[in-house]
Amino acid sequence: MTLSTRLALELGPLQVSDLDELMAIEVCSYPFPWSRGNFVDSLSSGYRAQGLWGSGERAVESQGAKPPLLGYSWAMEGVDELHLLNLTVHPEHRRAGYARMLLDDLVRWAVPRVLWWMWLEVRASNKAARHLYEAYGFEEAGLRRGYYPNVRSSREDAVVMRLDLRQALDRVDEAQPA
Ligand SMILES: CC(C)(COP(=O)(O)OP(=O)(O)OC[C@H]1O[C@@H](n2cnc3c(N)ncnc32)[C@H](O)[C@@H]1OP(=O)(O)O)[C@@H](O)C(=O)NCCC(=O)NCCS
Repeated sequence: MTLSTRLALELGPLQVSDLDELMAIEVCSYPFPWSRGNFVDSLSSGYRAQGLWGSGERAVESQGAKPPLLGYSWAMEGVDELHLLNLTVHPEHRRAGYARMLLDDLVRWAVPRVLWWMWLEVRASNKAARHLYEAYGFEEAGLRRGYYPNVRSSREDAVVMRLDLRQALDRVDEAQPA
């Protein structure tokens, strides 16, 4: 056993065998989490499912064991656009830049596939996610009234946001030149 003192991060495609670990993050991240069946169906539908694994600063690593899942993104490809369906980071690893990293990865993947826009819906009350998307360069494009179920009886609006993927790629490249 070694105590990891620096981050060792790895991005890669999610598989059915990752879903137990993913579900543990999902259920403590949303009032209405996706079900395991939703994720299995999304994999069968060919959605892009990307995981971010890493030792984390305080994590104890077993030699040879797969590092823990820190976060994930699920996205559906359209004709010239991408719909971000799920972006989640483990509660113990938030504010470390991992959501940004998952978005950078999507941007790098999308533009060579001639996908020019990334769309998403976010709960109006989800301040952390709205801050993230605004800071990343998404702009508000509309409101879907009563889109989400709520714990109490009334439903909640979704803010629709979109990102110009080519502009985002320029920013990603500027921040991390090859
Ligand atoms: C939203 C979420 C994905 C952000 O993940 P994260 O890894 O903590 O985000 P990052 O560390 O990459 O943050 C990047 C920027 O987003 C903004 N941000 C992220 N979390 C924030 C918070 N709680 N409050 C305010 N701003 C926040 C900041 O601008 C931050 O930059 P900074 O840390 O330099 O100030 C994470 O909080 C989460 O998984 N939440 C539950 C699931 C969810 O709501 N997903 C979005 C569904 S639409």
